[in-house]
Parts: sequence; structure tokens; C-alpha cells
Amino acid sequence: MAEIYDLQPDMYLSKKDVEEITEIFHTPLTGSYNWDYSAADDKINRLYQLAKKRQWDVEIDLDWSKKWDINSATLDDYSINHHSYMGYEPYANLSDSDKLEIQHKFATWSLSQFLHGEQGALLVASQLCSCAPTYNAKLYAATQTYDEARHVEAFNKYIQTRQKQMYPITPDLKILLDKILTDERWDLKFIGMQLIIEGLALGAFKAFQMTHPDKLLHQLIEKIVQDESRHVTFGVHYLEQHVKGLSEEEIEERAEFAYEACLVMRQRFHAVEIFEEYGWDIDETINYDESVKVRRDFQEFMFQRVIPSLKRVGLLTESIRPKFEKLGILKWEDFDDEDVSWREAQSA
Ligand SMILES: [Fe+2]
Ligand SMILES: [Fe+2]
Repeated sequence: MAEIYDLQPDMYLSKKDVEEITEIFHTPLTGSYNWDYSAADDKINRLYQLAKKRQWDVEIDLDWSKKWDINSATLDDYSINHHSYMGYEPYANLSDSDKLEIQHKFATWSLSQFLHGEQGALLVASQLCSCAPTYNAKLYAATQTYDEARHVEAFNKYIQTRQKQMYPITPDLKILLDKILTDERWDLKFIGMQLIIEGLALGAFKAFQMTHPDKLLHQLIEKIVQDESRHVTFGVHYLEQHVKGLSEEEIEERAEFAYEACLVMRQRFHAVEIFEEYGWDIDETINYDESVKVRRDFQEFMFQRVIPSLKRVGLLTESIRPKFEKLGILKWEDFDDEDVSWREAQSA
């Protein structure tokens, strides 16, 4: 069973804890210098300029004094999630206080995955500084690295001071991060992180906002979505040119990789650690999630930014399309996001 870390107010992990939970990975990273410093006035440079203007500070730009107490939350505060589970007997049979407790746990689980995903993004973005081939992309990756550090800081502070519990990374997200971090091909890192994980994050953050009552969290997510919109746009523009130069076989290989990553996240991104904690049958609970429209919508909603990006860069090939169709997420291929941050990144 997964171990949950209980956190006291303002208690950060000690040095001893860190030694015990540090995990080493080796990566055959192929880096490059680029001696051509002439920054073309292209989309990547404009995104870099925009990134510099949009820097923000976790301590200053978020109002942490806004009080929200997890202990005074009620089931009504989690109404969408709560009602979507009422048709599931093991949930419906719980007392109200146990239902409320599990709702807190669902929120904690999601926030913990966001935090761990952000750490993965931080590590990948720092690799991109070395291995992205062009000068503009290296500079851009540096701003992204700082953005990701801020995202780690923000989610961590939120969890430590408000949620006060943390779940470890769920195994399938970890496998995907491992793959991206240890693959030596820079374009797979771009596909895996910029298009898929960050695209999923955009969808997941927005869906999560709808289910969580704390206004500070909404504010925090708005700020992060602003940054993530630029990161996805960077990935799309950079890969669009690159993919055009690949052979058909290389394109298919990358399209398959993108599909496999989406498959894992579509089928396995469930709070299984909580299901286990409550003795719920994992397959049965996942089947329930798939059978209720609002729950299935949540799972599919996450892909609304990923699929149009894959299409745009040329990775939604004819042979891969039926597989996405089967996952129920091809419907997003022409989705046009009206989000303000997304629009801003698009028009940079
Ligand atoms: Fe991020
Ligand atoms: Fe990001």
C-alpha cells in the first residue's frame, strides 16, 4: 500500500528524509553548443521575450493570507466529484464524514501528482537547455526551467501549508517521466514533456479547479496555466519544423511513442492508491469511472490540448488515428481553446 506523508503545518522534509527519498537516475544526454548567436526574430524568440515579461513570484503574487480551512470544508464544496461517485456503492455506503475524508484525499492525490509532474518537468526543461539544438530554444528552455521551479515551489507550498498530506508519485506517471528523462533523443523529450505531459496538465488543472473550493488554489492554477500555455506552444512550434524533416519511419516511431504515452495516461491515471487504501477493487472502480459520463468526461477532458498539438506537428498519422479514436479522444483534434493564456501564447 502506498505510503502517505502526513505533514505538520510549516514542517518541511528534513535532511534525513531527503537522503532516504533521493533517487538516482542515469541519462545518456547528448548536448550541443550552438555558436550562432544571431537570434532570429521567430516565434521561439517572441515566446522567450513574453516569458521574461510574465515572470511572477509565488510569495508576492499569490495571496496566501486568504484563509481556507480544509477542516471546515463540507461535501457541498466537492459537489461535482461527490455526486459523480454516489452511484458507486462502496462510496455511497460510507458515512458523510468518511465521504468528506475521501474527497480530501482525492484532492491531495491530484495535487501530489501535479507536484511530482512539475518536478519531472523541471528536470526535463533543464535537460532541454543542453540538448535543444538552436540558440533561441536554449534560452527559451532556461525560462521554462525557472517557470517549472516556481510551479514546484507553488504546489509544494500549497500542499505543505493547506492540504498537509502528500501521496507519492503514481507508478505510471513515474514510468513516463523516467522514459522522457532517460531517452537520449531530444525530440522525444519534447514530444513527451511539451506536448503530452504539459498538454495533459493544462486539461487536468482546469478540470481540477472545477472540483476544488479554495479560491487561492484557483489563483495559483491560473498563474501556472499561463506558463504552461507557453511551454506547449514552444513544443508545438519547435517540433512542427523538425517533424517535417524526418523520414516516414521516424515519424511513425514518434507517433507510436506519443500514442503509448497517451494510452498509459488515459487508462492508468486513476487514484489507485486511494482505492487500495479503502479496499476498493481497482478494476471495478476504474470501470465505474468509465461508465459514468461526468467521470469519463474528466478523463477525456485532459486530452483537449494534447490531441490538437499532435495533429499540428504531424504526429496524428493515418495509421495512428484509429488507435486514438478507440481511446475516445480523437474528438479533440480540432479543439480550439478560448483560454486567455492560450490565446496570448498563440499570438506571441
Ligand atoms: Fe509546470
Ligand atoms: Fe511546463
